[in-house]
Amino acid sequence: MKTLMAVLMLLLLPALALAAEQGALEKVDIDVADKPALQDGARTFVNYCMGCHSARFQRYERVADDLGIPHDLMLEKLVFTGAKIGDHMSIGMQSADAKAWFGAAPPDLTLVARVRGIDWLYGYLRGFYADPSRPWGVNNTVFPNVGMPDVLAGVRQSLAPEQFDEKIKNLVTFLAYSANPVKLQSQRIGTYVLLYLAVFFIFAYLLKREYWKDVH
Ligand code: HEC
Repeated sequence: MKTLMAVLMLLLLPALALAAEQGALEKVDIDVADKPALQDGARTFVNYCMGCHSARFQRYERVADDLGIPHDLMLEKLVFTGAKIGDHMSIGMQSADAKAWFGAAPPDLTLVARVRGIDWLYGYLRGFYADPSRPWGVNNTVFPNVGMPDVLAGVRQSLAPEQFDEKIKNLVTFLAYSANPVKLQSQRIGTYVLLYLAVFFIFAYLLKREYWKDVH
């Protein structure tokens, strides 16, 4: 019996560990069709993240079009690398340099929301805390001993806690969109399909009535 219990415990252990890990992460509820949220997230991303991270599978033009930002405004307000509107969102930093500076190269973030999940990102970006033993004086609750400095410290200090959470939520919304830009499009197409089906149904019904009129 004891052995059986032990075996069961062992079998359950990964599930328990997973539950504990997931339990530690707060759930975040985002809407990738929310244009103002996406625009705010894009602004935060180009201002605070693209110093070190690229989104090189994404083009500025696509982002501008998807988020409803005119091209000239996009170039003026959201492109700081001298890139053209059709360019990919790459950066100049070499990963070898970055590795020397931070101990780890900042990965490309185009698809990070798929790899890590939105709850993880939301927790990570809100998870920095002071830790004098670390090179940048900070550590992270979700990513222990991370090589990334607390780049949003200034933003956090200038906002009320719930405003900061909202900022991060918008940033995560942008990252989720970036990892799956087709989702926006399919939501739009989905609406058209439903409208089409509704209209089609009316005609099909009228037609059916017409055909069956003489049968009854
Ligand atoms: C000063 C450079 C720098 C800036 C600016 C920066 N990061 Fe980082 N970031 C890093 C480094 C370096 C790592 C790798 C850390 C490691 O592996 O220990 C990292 C890691 C990450 C990771 C974890 C990736 C993974 O899957 O391992 C995410 C997510 C991330 N950064 C998001 C952001 C976001 C969002 C911003 C903008 C708010 C940002 N970073 C700004 C340097 C930076």
